[in-house]
Amino acid sequence: MIEIKRIKAEETYDIRKEVLRKNIDLPHTFAGDMDKDTFHLGLFIDQKIVGVVSFMKSTNKVIKGEQYQLRGMATLNDFQGKGYGKELTLHGIDILKKKQIDDLWCNARVSALDFYKKMGFQIIGKEFEVPKIGGHFVMFLKLS
Ligand SMILES: CC(C)(COP(=O)(O)OP(=O)(O)OC[C@H]1O[C@@H](n2cnc3c(N)ncnc32)[C@H](O)[C@@H]1OP(=O)(O)O)[C@@H](O)C(=O)NCCC(=O)NCCS
Repeated sequence: MIEIKRIKAEETYDIRKEVLRKNIDLPHTFAGDMDKDTFHLGLFIDQKIVGVVSFMKSTNKVIKGEQYQLRGMATLNDFQGKGYGKELTLHGIDILKKKQIDDLWCNARVSALDFYKKMGFQIIGKEFEVPKIGGHFVMFLKLS
């Protein structure tokens, strides 16, 4: 059975470490993890968590209106390419629309650009480098 539910920040950490921080010496926690407006989602298959994503109220000056940042998007390697990342993101977008949020943005790894593009995210600005990880673009999705 597949289920998406809200989880605590701590429940995202194992997958973040495994998928986003493997051999990368950077923290697996984010400054906004415990903020009151932040929410974290997990996708479970038969009660095993296989994907996580976090949504944080965070302002990017290039974007106007009420906005959230998508962070820590990760599906376990063996479960990638099965639609779970997309389902998690769409679930978050539903929640954000109910909160009347205008835009969702993220710092997208170059290797994941097409994943976000397929959900309608657009690139703003030029590529930038995140030390120890590599090239990124800011991407945003209009929700209103
Ligand atoms: C990027 C990631 C979260 C996508 O999750 P996923 O569960 O594999 O994605 P889905 O299966 O839901 O993919 C949805 C669509 O995007 C495509 N897609 C997924 N990842 C992609 C990638 N890295 N590059 C290009 N296309 C990708 C899928 O083929 C699918 O296309 P379709 O709708 O035409 O079939 C996952 O691959 C991952 O954890 N990667 C490593 C960590 C990472 O890069 N996270 C993002 C940091 S910004």
